[in-house]
Amino acid sequence: MSDPKPTYLRDYRPPAYRVTHTELTFDLDPAATRVKARLHLERHPERESGLPLTLDGERLVLKAIAIDGQPLEEDEYALTEDGLTVHRVPERFLLDTEVEIAPEANTALEGLYQSGGMYCTQCEAEGFRRITYYPDRPDVMATFATTVIGDAKREPVLLSNGNPVERGELPGGRHFVTWEDPHPKPCYLFALVAGDLEKVEDRFTTMSGREVTLQIWVEAENLGKTDHAMASLKRAMTWDEQTYGREYDLDRFMIVAVNDFNMGAMENKGLNIFNSAAVLTHPHTATDAAFQRVEGIVAHEYFHNWSGNRVTCRDWFQLSLKEGFTVFRDQCFSADTNSAPVKRIEDVSFFRTAQFAEDAGPTAHPIRPDHYIEITNFYTLTIYEKGAEVVRMLRNLVGWEAFRRGSDRYFERFDGQAVTIEDFVGCMEEASGQDLSQFMRWYSQAGTPEIDAHGEYDYANAEYRLILRQRTPATPDQPDKLPLHIPIRLGLVGTKSGRDLPLTLDGESLGTDAVIHLREDEQEFVFTEVSEAPVPSLARGFSAPVKLRFPYGREDLAFLLANDSDGFNRWDAGQRLAMLALDDLIAAHRNGVEKVMDSRVVEAFRTLLSQDSDDKAVLAEMLTLPSEAYIAEQQPLVDVDAIHAARTFVKQSLAMALRDEFLAVFEANRSEAPYAPEPEQIAARSLKNVALSYLMAIEDEEGIELVQRQFAADHNMTDVRHALTLLVHSSRDDLAEPALRRFGEKWAHDPLVMDQWFSIQVTRPQPDALERVKFLMEHPAFSLKNPNKVRALIGAFAGQNRVNFHRADGEGYRLLADVVIELNRLNPEIAARIITPLTRWQRFDEARQALMKAELERIRAEELSPNVYEVVQKALA
Ligand code: ARG
Ligand code: ZN
Repeated sequence: MSDPKPTYLRDYRPPAYRVTHTELTFDLDPAATRVKARLHLERHPERESGLPLTLDGERLVLKAIAIDGQPLEEDEYALTEDGLTVHRVPERFLLDTEVEIAPEANTALEGLYQSGGMYCTQCEAEGFRRITYYPDRPDVMATFATTVIGDAKREPVLLSNGNPVERGELPGGRHFVTWEDPHPKPCYLFALVAGDLEKVEDRFTTMSGREVTLQIWVEAENLGKTDHAMASLKRAMTWDEQTYGREYDLDRFMIVAVNDFNMGAMENKGLNIFNSAAVLTHPHTATDAAFQRVEGIVAHEYFHNWSGNRVTCRDWFQLSLKEGFTVFRDQCFSADTNSAPVKRIEDVSFFRTAQFAEDAGPTAHPIRPDHYIEITNFYTLTIYEKGAEVVRMLRNLVGWEAFRRGSDRYFERFDGQAVTIEDFVGCMEEASGQDLSQFMRWYSQAGTPEIDAHGEYDYANAEYRLILRQRTPATPDQPDKLPLHIPIRLGLVGTKSGRDLPLTLDGESLGTDAVIHLREDEQEFVFTEVSEAPVPSLARGFSAPVKLRFPYGREDLAFLLANDSDGFNRWDAGQRLAMLALDDLIAAHRNGVEKVMDSRVVEAFRTLLSQDSDDKAVLAEMLTLPSEAYIAEQQPLVDVDAIHAARTFVKQSLAMALRDEFLAVFEANRSEAPYAPEPEQIAARSLKNVALSYLMAIEDEEGIELVQRQFAADHNMTDVRHALTLLVHSSRDDLAEPALRRFGEKWAHDPLVMDQWFSIQVTRPQPDALERVKFLMEHPAFSLKNPNKVRALIGAFAGQNRVNFHRADGEGYRLLADVVIELNRLNPEIAARIITPLTRWQRFDEARQALMKAELERIRAEELSPNVYEVVQKALA
């Protein structure tokens, strides 16, 4: 096999022919589904006459082909592994093809496949070419009419995009339904679902008074788990009308829950297909976090109806055009529906851990890459989350009103078109009158900018000088970087008053909270009329996706933690303070020196615990130590054992020093009230459970008793799972084992709960974790073919159990490589994702580097899918 070739952005050209209308007929069969396609084609006005017609197609068996009703002779076309070329075609014509495909053999879960007994599709990005011959690219937009034929008993429900227009019986116990989607769409938004499904139905009246039928389709046993998704959908529809003026545009909106799914969900026009984990909830099976995740994903996919479907991407290099914007939209929706500061804290702490690591590793890429081998590898934290941060900066730069005008302009001007990131930013420029040309570098430059800040207060002149220096480290293919336009939101907090001081810059008064613009490599800002010595509060709300260093002393951080008017930076000050203490303890551990707890951290926590907090959710975040993964991100070289030891030491020290305080918080936030996924309840539960973690940290009688009681009370999954995790992650196997058994037996029938059962066990810090992974891979509920199971067991172990995955004997690496090699054949997309921890070898000591690289080499020696090939090549480059 020759090495797969990259595709380059600079090679983009419009297609030679476009499709105006697509008619499809599926005759379903697990081993031999027949797909008939009639494409209405015409020459693209910007392309010359006489070009051959090239269509994408993979794993298709061609049964018939005709143009304008005339079957083609064999010398009139050519077939290859990845497509079909017709040498000569008219300017306008009808192409008829018929192919055969085998959904039951499709373990990659791209194209048409079977999940349990049902048929379903996943076409983004390039899955439609596994269904029929087609110009499988997003700039070809057609209306679709789809007939699905299935067995009336096995597949009573036959769904596709748009509206059902005809149905009927056929001989042999078969039946059919025909669907029409009037909105032109690229084929990546095509969907088909067939199976024995039940629905829950609701209605929504749009702002212009149109009635929309809402349906959630699930297997019968899941009928009781759709309420939250339906409520979330209606909230999202209302929010998009009120916030962006966007209305739904079909008579029905359908969601289908599928057990085998590579990602979270897919925004197919009018027929969203969801990983069941991203839609099903019940108080006894789903945690608060899962409820919130479902709400966010339902909204995300719904919002794509405009940001993605009505206006789509010209090519896949523009992926962040729809994903960055849509993630930004769903983040704002969730912030409006829940606690806004907590949403921001959660998003940023995830971002700074996972996206920063991506940006610093061998697969770093810009938000708009300029080449790829396998586009599926680019559904990344950079495209999604960093893309959303960049849209957020745009909103902050131009202000909400101009942003909204720009968004209106974008949706109106480009409705029904496939466009580029320039088109989007251009609308923002027009609406705001601002020059965003330097800002565009955010889209083309990879890597996390680092800002070194320092400041000086001049008593005599009442001036504060702030000096900012920016630098973006080299990333693969990009040795030299240009300065970015970075908005820094800041305040100067007076050390006497504890208040934000008025800001005057260049004679202009800016209020007490302002944005300054860093555009040069180095810039100085002199604030005048500063009446007292301040501590600066920088990059409030994480105003730009950068690493900002400032030489804060511990007193400064304790001061900000107590006084900053920005909730996000108050939390961040606490994290920085904890990091300083953790750094000392990591060094002590490495040097074999006795560990001593920093009393300032203890006092800061004592103050937090004693205050009457009006925002319990924020308090819970403030009491949570940086994760091991986040701590690792801050180290020049990662020592997993030292990090684990240091963090455990801090936790136990706090638990001992503040035992009564934690107990009081725990007691004050217990509740017998019936479970509801509501912000106040969620906040109280998370605060109570953080307190419980501390109470259990030293594993004394009382802590154990409280955890066991919470587990036995069986009140809701949030509490049960938290208690079970504390037991299983403790040193008390005598308590862990019976609880695990009880939980495993009770939920053996529920795959989503079993996923949690798997994850809890394989993330425990005890040295048997790796053996457990191997043992559980043989469990009847586990399957390598189900992506949720792979993530729950292998992904959780390799990604979250840092001490055990990085075992010095290399067994963790070997296990992951074995799984990657097997998945490479079954499901290349998942294989290429699950490999990520191995690609981060540069961050570890030499012995581990050698072990990790050896496993990457072992993988590279296999016959690889383009997906895994691309990642391994980069990791070993
Ligand atoms: N567009 C989908 C979403 O963000 C994700 C599709 C991912 N497809 C893939 N092959 N990975 O909602
Ligand atoms: Zn999306």
